[in-house]
Amino acid sequence: MRKPIIAGNWKMNKTASEGAKLVNELAPLVKDANCDVVVCVPAIDIPAVAEAIKGTNIQLGAQNVHFEAHGAFTGEIAADMLKEYGVKYVIVGHSERRSYFNDTDETVNKRMHAALNAGITPIVCLGETLEQRRTGKTEEVLDEQIEKSLKGVDDLSRIVIAYEPIWAIGTGVTATADQANETIGYIRKKCAEVFCPKCAEKVRIQYGGSMNAGNCKELMAMPEIDGGLIGGASLKADAFSAIVNYDK
Ligand code: PGA
Repeated sequence: MRKPIIAGNWKMNKTASEGAKLVNELAPLVKDANCDVVVCVPAIDIPAVAEAIKGTNIQLGAQNVHFEAHGAFTGEIAADMLKEYGVKYVIVGHSERRSYFNDTDETVNKRMHAALNAGITPIVCLGETLEQRRTGKTEEVLDEQIEKSLKGVDDLSRIVIAYEPIWAIGTGVTATADQANETIGYIRKKCAEVFCPKCAEKVRIQYGGSMNAGNCKELMAMPEIDGGLIGGASLKADAFSAIVNYDK
């Protein structure tokens, strides 16, 4: 009932020409995918990648969006600027944005609404640190992130949630499939309480954190996990396509 979504997060990697080359290599390898295939690229790569994905099933994503429509915000990008290039998804609240660039649940919430207002699907990232998991605070942390970051969403099916335990990002340490499934199940339960049970059944929740060709089958077999947000393994066509084709 929920269509799986595998999204690559290139982070600050790939120039525009490298990005177009990667997408050209990727396109034939993912053409028969049963899931939504998305690449979230650096802002300056958007025009080249938008051109390169024409006629393919790859959808375009961005990595951030500012919450105001326009104005004096040096270095920022507005939702309609993304929209003009056919951007369909935008990551908001990635833990790197939260820790290095001072994004908070409040600004993440504003960015999410800016995307929704422009008709772009936000991929809202949530997740706990290792310290928080060790001290048994995971659920408390997620509760707060859900209540604040997702505040005011009227239709949860219009967003994607990415559960990314911070300790698993770029570390090679993956949450076990059971851990990821259990925590994503918890996020869905909390969404049912805060929003409504029916909407919680509709929202797609991805797992992110060192997901790769070797562990994607097991993760994707879990009933609560609706996809992946992939960093390192999205930078090579063979590695990313192996994840996209997890069911083949
Ligand atoms: P990773 O990154 O797959 O390299 O762990 C995931 C992410 O940060 O979205």
